[in-house]
Amino acid sequence: MMKNNVVIANDHGAVEIKNTIIRHLVSRGFEVTDLGVADGESADYPDQALQACTEFNAAGDYAFGIVCCGTGIGISMAANKVDGIRCALPQNIFAARMAKEHNNANFLAFGGRIAYQDPVEGMLDAFIDADFEADSRHDRRVSKIMAIEKNSK
Ligand code: RB5
Repeated sequence: MMKNNVVIANDHGAVEIKNTIIRHLVSRGFEVTDLGVADGESADYPDQALQACTEFNAAGDYAFGIVCCGTGIGISMAANKVDGIRCALPQNIFAARMAKEHNNANFLAFGGRIAYQDPVEGMLDAFIDADFEADSRHDRRVSKIMAIEKNSK
């Protein structure tokens, strides 16, 4: 059974998509901790990524986290620098499902200035409703990702 809380943070390039994401998560029964920013505020995406990932690691009981910036690129790069974070930047519904099934992502990133071919709600559903294929070659590969994090310090 998936936990029911999600942490989210964004920069000024992604306020609208953040609000869409929150509305959808709430409609699916999730509690959302929104670390901002709100409309009219400006922020540097690395600061927002660090806030969200720090909160995720400190609390230890979030289902997953979400970070959003103009493209999703910068904020996903920053998130993936934080210990323990596997942040996927899905292009579409298929990739969102794979992010869970194969990569066991614990964060998703989206771009507020990207014209996605699939609705963000559909990408969220695909991720939420998928299960990681544990005890498989994917387990081994995800362990190798985390070993890179540990061994490259
Ligand atoms: C901010 O203008 C923009 O650079 C940021 O939102 C994001 O697209 C970075 O990757």
